Amino acid sequence: MAENDESTRLVAIACDHGGFALKEALKAALPGVNWLDLGTDSAESVDYPDFADKLADAIGDGKAARGILICGSGIGISIAANRHAHIRCALVHDVTGARLCRQHNNANVLAMGGRLIGEAVAKECVEAFLSTAFDGGRHQKRIDKLGSR
Ligand code: RB5
Repeated sequence: MAENDESTRLVAIACDHGGFALKEALKAALPGVNWLDLGTDSAESVDYPDFADKLADAIGDGKAARGILICGSGIGISIAANRHAHIRCALVHDVTGARLCRQHNNANVLAMGGRLIGEAVAKECVEAFLSTAFDGGRHQKRIDKLGSR
């Protein structure tokens, strides 16, 4: 495991109904991750901001260092998560994005679209997100400017 590997720590995961199937698939495919599952728990219709807020609060409270959010497209739940000042949520569709959001953006939350991404790619995205370190350096001063307006 990489030095920065986060998979042995609690990783929060939450979704709306559009992301429920992928959330369950990821938990089954990655049983070595210590998941903190914040729901939703069925395919019944719910509102994605409620689950983005739950996950942001779990990270803010120190219950988890990183999080995974899934809605149908990944768009709504990533927008909602990024309303929280302590969250840097990256919506990704491929492994390169999952790696870069750690290296360049120090993202602490990964968002994906359960209706858009396949399970195999989503699993690889989570693995890359949890095992890739932030590069720091020139990227840190850019992150420091986020939310300064
Ligand atoms: C729910 O139908 C869908 O709108 C939601 O999962 C998400 O894609 C919104 O951005």
